[in-house]
Amino acid sequence: MQKAIYPGTFDPITNGHLDLIQRAAKLFDELVIAVAASSQKKPLFSLAERKNLLEEILVDFRNVKIIEFDGLLIDCAKQNQASVLIRSMRSSVDYDFELQNALMNRAMASDIETLFLIPDPKVMHISSTLVKQIASLGQSTDAFVPTLIERALAEKFVSS
Ligand code: COA
Repeated sequence: MQKAIYPGTFDPITNGHLDLIQRAAKLFDELVIAVAASSQKKPLFSLAERKNLLEEILVDFRNVKIIEFDGLLIDCAKQNQASVLIRSMRSSVDYDFELQNALMNRAMASDIETLFLIPDPKVMHISSTLVKQIASLGQSTDAFVPTLIERALAEKFVSS
């Protein structure tokens, strides 16, 4: 069984992440979405909130499992018997950063491959940070995130 792991902070999941998940889920028997604690990024949503939101949004994906992790990605991949790491490749900026990460991960675990997927150009410009900025200013994020996330963002900024 071919199992892949798609890590990210998902603070929150956007239509860009969703596009990548749809592509990756078609390629593997099982896709593990690993939600990183990423405490240095000071996430808006707690780790549990991010995992719950992903679970609700991805409920219809039969071969997708969502887990939390805090630590090295390759350790998480090994614990979950995943032999492939999925990352998104959008631009030369991603390339420089991701190449270094992929090589570091390979140096630590040579049997785990990194696979880069190119998202739909229609969602390539989306980033979680920009979406949060738009929501914090009271504007609609409807074009960039699933409806559930739009509501969750609105609630966060009303209550903050
Ligand atoms: N379309 C649109 N936007 C996308 C996207 C896509 N397909 N894929 C990612 N993005 C955006 C995200 O919204 C996010 O935007 P933001 O920075 O404004 O929040 C950004 O690109 C990167 O997000 P993401 O893909 O979720 O990755 P990340 O940088 O948050 O997560 C980890 C990186 C967690 C995978 C990495 O830090 C890690 O592996 N950490 C574990 C520790 C470790 O093993 N370190 C050693 C590595 S060598």
